[in-house]
Parts: sequence; C-alpha cells; structure tokens
Amino acid sequence: MDIRPLFPQLIFSATIPVPNGLVEYCDELKKGKTENRTSGGGWETPNNLQENKKFVDKYLKVHFLVPLQRELSTVKFPSWNLDALWISGLNRGGYHVDHIHPCADFAFTWYINAYENAEGGCISFRNPMEYESSKMLHYLDPEIKNALGLCHNFQIKPKSGLFLMFPASLYHMVLPSGSDNRLAMSGNITIG
Ligand SMILES: [Fe+2]
Repeated sequence: MDIRPLFPQLIFSATIPVPNGLVEYCDELKKGKTENRTSGGGWETPNNLQENKKFVDKYLKVHFLVPLQRELSTVKFPSWNLDALWISGLNRGGYHVDHIHPCADFAFTWYINAYENAEGGCISFRNPMEYESSKMLHYLDPEIKNALGLCHNFQIKPKSGLFLMFPASLYHMVLPSGSDNRLAMSGNITIG
C-alpha cells in the first residue's frame, strides 16, 4: 500500500562555519549579564544580542547574516527579520527544558562549539501530533514509521557550524550535555 505524508514539519539545516575568535568571545559574554530562561546547568545572554554593536560588527553581520541570507534565498522567502538573538552555554549535564519560541515564525540555533564525540546534548523535537497519532505511533510498521519520520520525538546531534531553523511553535528541548562549554547561538525570525 502506498502512503503519502501530508503537512510535514519543516526543519531547515545548513552549515555556517564558525569564525575564529567567536568561542573565546563567548567567554566574555559569559562574564556579563546572564539569565536562565530555559536552561539549567548553564547560562544564556539576554535575548537582545542583535543590539550589541561590537558583536554585530565583529561576528554577526559577515559571518552569520550574510551566509544565512544566501541560504534563505534558496527557499524564496521575500524578506525576513531577526527579532531576538542570544547565546547559551551548557556545562556537562546542562540542559534546556521543553519550550517554544512565542511570537515568531521560525526559531533557529547555530552550534558554535559542540564536541561531536561527546554523548548527549542533542536537540530533541517533540511530535506536535503525538496525541492524535498515538495509535499509529504504536502499531504502524517500524520501517514505515522510520521512512515517514513518524516518531514521538526526533533528535539531532549538535555539530560546530550546524544551523537549524524550525517552526517557532514546535516544542523542543536539549538533552543533558555530555561536555562542558557547549555553545549555541539561538534566535527568532519573522518572515515578510
Ligand atoms: Fe529554543
């Protein structure tokens, strides 16, 4: 029997190389004002990093916004705006609780420092149709579920330079990090 998935969740991904010096600059940010909005065992800058002129001029414009604009042009969004931006660091065992990014179209995360060989620290997306599709999730042939991406949650391992953009309404969390100094820049994007 043929099966066609309808209305998938779209996870955009790209590689945006991390510029020299950014990991060290995060040490400076860590010494400034930090918060814990969704994290435990780590730190987050306030979510208006896009207003930090030094950061914008030295790192954001050339090393992130230009390559991101290039990537987004391939999916033909007419225009987009960066509404919120922050960097978070996790120590070993640090995590982010399940959350969404209200008032935005897309949320994104860009891994600045991730140790590929370390266990843990994956971002985990939760199936928004988990309740409605609970019987399919239970009974459907595992190979079919795998091919269609039908699961309770889907995890992606962080890698330095990996950029992920996903619907801001999609619940996600970060599993306990297996390494110290896991660094990611995250934010909100509105389209149009
Ligand atoms: Fe998030």
